Amino acid sequence: MTKKIAVLAGDGIGPEIVVEAVKVLDRLKQDGLDIELEHGLIGGAAYDESGTPLPDETIAISQAADGILLGAVGGYKWESLDISVRPEKGLLGIRSALNLFANLRPAILYPQLADASTLKAEVVAGLDLMIVRELTGGIYFGQPRGVRTLENGEKEGFNTLVYKESEINRIGKVAFDIAQKRQSRVCSVDKANVLESTELWRETMTSLAEGYPSVELSHMYVDNAAMQLVRAPKQFDVMVTTNMFGDILSDCASMLTGSIGMLPSASLDENGKGMYEPIHGSAPDIAGQNIANPLATILSVAMMLRYTLEQPEMADRIEKAVSTVLDKGLRTADIFSEGMTKVGTSEMGDAVVAAL
Ligand code: IPM
Ligand code: MG
Repeated sequence: MTKKIAVLAGDGIGPEIVVEAVKVLDRLKQDGLDIELEHGLIGGAAYDESGTPLPDETIAISQAADGILLGAVGGYKWESLDISVRPEKGLLGIRSALNLFANLRPAILYPQLADASTLKAEVVAGLDLMIVRELTGGIYFGQPRGVRTLENGEKEGFNTLVYKESEINRIGKVAFDIAQKRQSRVCSVDKANVLESTELWRETMTSLAEGYPSVELSHMYVDNAAMQLVRAPKQFDVMVTTNMFGDILSDCASMLTGSIGMLPSASLDENGKGMYEPIHGSAPDIAGQNIANPLATILSVAMMLRYTLEQPEMADRIEKAVSTVLDKGLRTADIFSEGMTKVGTSEMGDAVVAAL
């Protein structure tokens, strides 16, 4: 049966990198991938068109789809808008509306890019880490939130960090299940020495681990985890953490691999439906110049093939094709080093298609 893919390009470099990912999907259609694409607006592009960063139509298209491919949202143009209609609200809104609570952010170092990392090659060589970030709860969504004026006239901003046991359990299960297919080690990251909600996080993870005797669970405070990620990142297999800690640690982990432009992500609901996007942002400073790296978005398509479209061989083929173009020395500006061939966004996309 034909699977439906919603394509939400978004803002900044979003449209350019999504075009390259769609080229890859089109190429795979020739080999029998049975999909149909439907485009929708999100973020600033949607705001400009309809006054909201997440139009109902976009939610409807995405709900009806089997999988969603997203570029990126946000840009200078919309930074002064009220927070309730900023592009980022579109992204948070769709994660929440579709219940995409499990965010998988792999950080894999392609051996060809060991020199592109700011860390010593021996620290990062062979790195293969999976960050499992809770995506629809925690301080990002907790109530109450806002800015209020105190009696003395001073303003006070406030947000709430809340986690229910059920939310911790379901993200924990995702992490343990993934670990079983990898090196069977889960490191749960919290701030249990200070925050009650993450003390509950730690206790819940510990109870959950009893059902996974083959998986080794460890706990780490988030400040230490940030340090360990740059000190000795290869100690980690699967890391599971809260929404905000995962946001921060995944950016940190991305640089271990040389460039944030290389990392894909999957955001899954309870039934394996997913939204796939690069973990980098909309990079408005380089938008429209054909210099952005499309590989994170192309690798997001590979994740979509693996987790939602049940086409693991095609996923492997994309990952191999990316490896092939790197072997050939092709590099976008963000991963460029001496002696390599610098290419633009569209040339990189074409090269991956050719390698397929
Ligand atoms: C990410 C981004 C988003 C987040 C922003 C754009 C709302 O940083 O996907 O990591 O904070 O989740
Ligand atoms: Mg982030």
